[in-house]
Parts: sequence; structure tokens; C-alpha cells
Amino acid sequence: MPETIEEQLVGHLTDVPSIEEQALQQLRVAPRMARDPELARAFREHIAETEDQERLVRGRLEAHGADRSRVKDVVARAGGVGMVIFARSQPDTPGKLVAHAYSYEHMELAAYELLAVVADRAGDAETVEVARSIREQEETMGRRLAAGFDRAVDASLREVAPEDLGEQLGKYLADAHAIESQAVQLLEGGQAIAGEPDLEKVFADHLEETRVHQNAVKARLEARGERPSRFKSTLLRVGGLNLGGFFGAQPDTPAKLAGFAFAFEHLEIAAYEELTRVAQRAGDGETARVAERILGDERAAAAALRAQFEPAMEAALRKRGLVPAS
Ligand SMILES: [Fe+2]
Ligand SMILES: [Fe+2]
Ligand SMILES: [Fe+2]
Repeated sequence: MPETIEEQLVGHLTDVPSIEEQALQQLRVAPRMARDPELARAFREHIAETEDQERLVRGRLEAHGADRSRVKDVVARAGGVGMVIFARSQPDTPGKLVAHAYSYEHMELAAYELLAVVADRAGDAETVEVARSIREQEETMGRRLAAGFDRAVDASLREVAPEDLGEQLGKYLADAHAIESQAVQLLEGGQAIAGEPDLEKVFADHLEETRVHQNAVKARLEARGERPSRFKSTLLRVGGLNLGGFFGAQPDTPAKLAGFAFAFEHLEIAAYEELTRVAQRAGDGETARVAERILGDERAAAAALRAQFEPAMEAALRKRGLVPAS
């Protein structure tokens, strides 16, 4: 456990190169999987940016006297960052690829926003600067991916015959249902370990909405003559969330949890962006309307979580006596 704000900062800096390493692994295979030249270009562009980011962060680690072996080590222990569980999922369509990447960029965004807060409290202006500029790049990459939702759906449906669109829509709906189930799990767990009343309220409020979403999606599945269990949901899910294990022992748990949930909301945002498009193509206006309505809630939840990053981190640092009580 860090005893000083300096140690806390070095801890955060140590986590980041592993996040970038995982990003690079995904980005290197993404252009091939995208099945669309524009999307492929967006991924390729971000490879060079990501390599720069990793270099910059390692530079800051060395400036803090972290020895080379430790800096090397961090890649080997990439699994140590709870949030990298996203990286393990293997998307099988361009749509899922873009949805995962979109979520991952927002996880990175959260990591750098939290890093900037800790660096600021540690009085390290240079790291604040680096963290903010990288955060900008992640946000820009997120926007590039969002601009590619249409293309991602096009590429995913290119080989689907018009008469099979309904069945595809069923799969997207079943995925949405699976994501909402995971969201319930995440938010219930989050609420239990948030530790800060404001963050707890964000989790609690969105948990209520999430149950409504789950039912609305189920109703659309049923209206289409499907059952949620009919399709084995193919990995628009993060596979057995184990929040306690990932976050339990860390003093900055609530802040990281907010970051993780923020990334998860972006997985949902991408899923509903795509579902809306697939529903429109399949001529199911009611499903498209439901998806759009849910989309608005997911965006609002993501914004509410982001607003908690700084206060949650501040509270964690204060609780451990790493910054003076205000
Ligand atoms: Fe990055
Ligand atoms: Fe990135
Ligand atoms: Fe959500």
C-alpha cells in the first residue's frame, strides 16, 4: 500500500504501460478484422499514437526513479490491471470489434484522467501535462470509432441476405440482453464497494434504469418470437466479472471502479448504436426506438460516472492521508 502521494503516483504510472501494451496487441490485429478500409485506417493511425503514449509514460516513470527492471516488468504483469479484462474478449464481427475498441479507449481515457488527478496532487506538472494530452488522444480515437458505427454495421451485415436480417437482429438483441445482465452484476457489485455516497448513488440510480432496460430488451425479443436464451451470446460480454478480486485490495478502488464502469457504459453505448442501425435495416422501428431511448440513459450514466472520477480519487487519497484534508 502506498504510504506517500509519490508512491501512489508511481503506482498509477506503473499500471499504464500494461494498458497500452494490451491496446497495441488489439490494434495490430484490428485492421485485418475490420473488413472496411476507413475503419482499418483509424486503427492503424492509433498504433503509432499508442506507441508514443507508452514511451511518454515510461519516461515519466523513469523521471520518478523507477528502475529499468520495474519498467520492463510491468508488461509481464499486464493482468494486474483489473480493467484489462476487456482485452481478453475476442470479437468475431467488425461491429463487435468496434464496440470493444470504443469501450477500451474510454477505459484508457479514464485511466489517464485519474492519473492526471494523482499527478496534480503530487505536484508533478509534467505528468499532468502528459496525462492530459494522452487523454485527448484517447478521446479523439473514441470519436473516430463512433464515426465508424455505420461502417462497422455495414461490414458486419455485408454478407447477410435481406431475408436473414431478422435473425441477425435477434442476435443483436440477445447480446444487448446479455450486456444488461452483466451491467446489473457490475452495478450491484459497484454499489456494494463504492464506499463514497455520491458514487454509490450513481450506481444505484443506474442499476434501477438497467433493470428497466433489461426488461425492455426482453420484451422486444419476445415480440419477435425469440427467447433471450435462444442465442448463445457471442461475447459482447466481459466474462464473469469478479470485482472484489480485481479491486478489493486497492486504496483507490472507488475511483478505478468508476473508470471501469465508465468503460462498460461505452460498451453499452456502442451496442445500442449498432442495434439501432440493425433494427432500422430489418424494418423493426419499435426496436430501433427502444434502443435509442436506452442509448440516452447509457450516455447520461457515463457522464455521471465521469463526474465522479476526481471526487472519488480525492476522497481515496484523503482517507489514506496522502493529501491534506480540505
Ligand atoms: Fe493509449
Ligand atoms: Fe487508445
Ligand atoms: Fe448502462
